[in-house]
Amino acid sequence: MPLVPMKQVLDEAIKGNYGVGAYNVNNMEQIQGIMRAASETRSPVIIQASRGALKYTNMAYIKYLAAAAVEDNPDIPIVLHLDHGNSLETCKEAIELGFTSVMIDGSLKEDSKTPTTFEGNVRVTKEVVDYAHEFGVSVEGELGTLGGIEDGVGSEKVMLTDPDEAVKFIKRTGVDALALAIGTSHGAYKFKAKPTLAMDIINKVVEKIPGVPLVMHGSSSVPQELIEIINKYGGRLEKTMGVPMESIKEAIKRGIRKINVDTDGRLAMTGAIRKYLGENLSAFDPRTYFGAAREAVYQMVKGKMIDFGTAGHAGDYKPMTLEEMKKIYK
Ligand code: G3H
Ligand code: 13P
Ligand code: ZN
Repeated sequence: MPLVPMKQVLDEAIKGNYGVGAYNVNNMEQIQGIMRAASETRSPVIIQASRGALKYTNMAYIKYLAAAAVEDNPDIPIVLHLDHGNSLETCKEAIELGFTSVMIDGSLKEDSKTPTTFEGNVRVTKEVVDYAHEFGVSVEGELGTLGGIEDGVGSEKVMLTDPDEAVKFIKRTGVDALALAIGTSHGAYKFKAKPTLAMDIINKVVEKIPGVPLVMHGSSSVPQELIEIINKYGGRLEKTMGVPMESIKEAIKRGIRKINVDTDGRLAMTGAIRKYLGENLSAFDPRTYFGAAREAVYQMVKGKMIDFGTAGHAGDYKPMTLEEMKKIYK
């Protein structure tokens, strides 16, 4: 089957009441580790590339690595998604490359730092929706910015999503999925103690618009054992906490359908490479330590596919092509 539009994968997740992980990728080993986990657990999967990943892979490599994932796993629904697109131009590039889904993060200006106004966000998101839907490509928008919600716990300025604005935003833009800010943040240093997330925002949006899949960014759990492995083998990471799996399960129960994970993959790979090289001082064949990194990604993603409830759902539906999705948008 070809790459699948994200709308279908997430709409099915609403029906089945489970979450689908969206895993950031930059190279072959990450993709292989994720695909082995998806294949063994029979899970639909979203592989996503950031603008940084597009630059790092020189674009064409990501396209053909995704094509290889499809060829190698013909019975697994795979979405190729642009993570945090910052403009219509970037989204157009991804669509041209064959991505079946794009995120336009209109919550921030093109510098990906400065918050925008609600109207500015609506404008750019609607532009991307109008363009992408012509190709059958799905669109994720974002409202609110990521941060912590307890004093001294979060690292960034907090702008949690206003549920009433979220409803207006969905209606005015026609997005296929919406990322909410409920108190998480990107990266390894999210919290100093167990976080309290603003879970009620999810319910308030779902009550008003039940059919639109919601997205949670900054969802890495930052497992302590990965921090310990990295530090044991020469790393210097500070004490930190991520989003506990129980909070993610709770969010899924309430209506989160796409769960973004990048940091845990980075930690898993770094730990495995440090450990391998630390224990094998004479090793210099990259296949040995990249192989260990691939295995670590596989283990980590497999655990999440089971915990998010994705496992077992790969064969639930006949995946749509972009051509079929185009007709639905018309
Ligand atoms: O949301 C950000 C992702 O973790 C991607 O990070 O821009 O360093 O590839 P990156
Ligand atoms: P983490 O940094 O928690 O893995 O979040 C990744 C993310 O949200 C990518 O868009
Ligand atoms: Zn993100």
